[in-house]
Amino acid sequence: MQPSEERFVLRRSLLFMPGDSLRKIRKATTLETDCVIMDLEDGVAVSQKAAARQTVAEALATLDFGHRERLVRINPPDTPWMEEDLAVTLPARPDGYVLPKVQSPEEIRAVGRRLAQAEERHGWPPGSLALLVVVETARGILALPEIVRADLRLQALMFGAEDLAGDMGARRTREGWEVFHARSQVVLAAAAHGLQAIDMVFVDLADLAGLEAECAFGRQLGYTGKMAIHPRQLPVINRLFSPSAEEIQRAQALLQAFRAQEASGSGVFEWEGKMVDRPMVRAAQRVLAQAQAAGLI
Ligand code: COA
Ligand code: MG
Repeated sequence: MQPSEERFVLRRSLLFMPGDSLRKIRKATTLETDCVIMDLEDGVAVSQKAAARQTVAEALATLDFGHRERLVRINPPDTPWMEEDLAVTLPARPDGYVLPKVQSPEEIRAVGRRLAQAEERHGWPPGSLALLVVVETARGILALPEIVRADLRLQALMFGAEDLAGDMGARRTREGWEVFHARSQVVLAAAAHGLQAIDMVFVDLADLAGLEAECAFGRQLGYTGKMAIHPRQLPVINRLFSPSAEEIQRAQALLQAFRAQEASGSGVFEWEGKMVDRPMVRAAQRVLAQAQAAGLI
């Protein structure tokens, strides 16, 4: 299996909704979200797990999601629900799965094998079902170097701050310093293996200024997108995780200057009073790739 081109799927905003709410799933198909995550895990009461699976399968089979990526968050492997989550939803062919509370590469490989079997049985291209994992336990954070290498179908790491704080006995604050180390670890591990990094949920639905600040800092750390839990959060997240017009312009100008310098044989040069070398060129290329994926150029 080759790492697929789906690695470059645009995932700035990833909106969760409970899988037993057809109303919210239908609503999501009208919203500006890059990904729709139909949840079977913690957003669904135990008594509703079975109904939620059916609702998600029906939504996948009948609704038009347009350009939005269709993801299903299943229950973790150590629960009695995961196998059935996959069995009921796989035939409806989502674009991929979100596996929560991952703690080890074995868990990811086991789910990967299950997805590979389904691809083979249905005649779908090998590796076409994406896998994104939520790292949100202390053991998961410590296992990151193995987790990123677990399976070629893995495309993104998602950072779950609330569960991690619970697991660590940390007290959540608005500033988030209690999860900062882990939040950095996740984005670092993702970068080391060419994966996308999706930042934590912002739970205060009314505080859009706070959301904006958290997006800005997440992006500064290197995160490429952020989970959302309410439609209101989407415009802020999309804006903060898209390159601005000014950033695009600067990147284009820098690359132009670089090409001119390169033609004259020099690898490092001065541009607008600053030193420019390869890492800055790569950063500019990344900005333009993001802008292209977002349809901004
Ligand atoms: N996805 C899609 N639509 C959503 C939505 C979501 N996550 N959250 C709210 N909406 C819709 C509502 O259905 C409502 O639309 P309607 O008027 O057509 O019915 C509209 O947006 C306004 O919603 P609002 O009344 O402000 O919120 P609510 O009280 O219906 O729901 C929550 C509040 C927190 C329960 C809801 O936002 C939610 O379910 N969020 C996701 C929670 C989740 O999945 N958690 C697990 C992952 S962390
Ligand atoms: Mg969680």
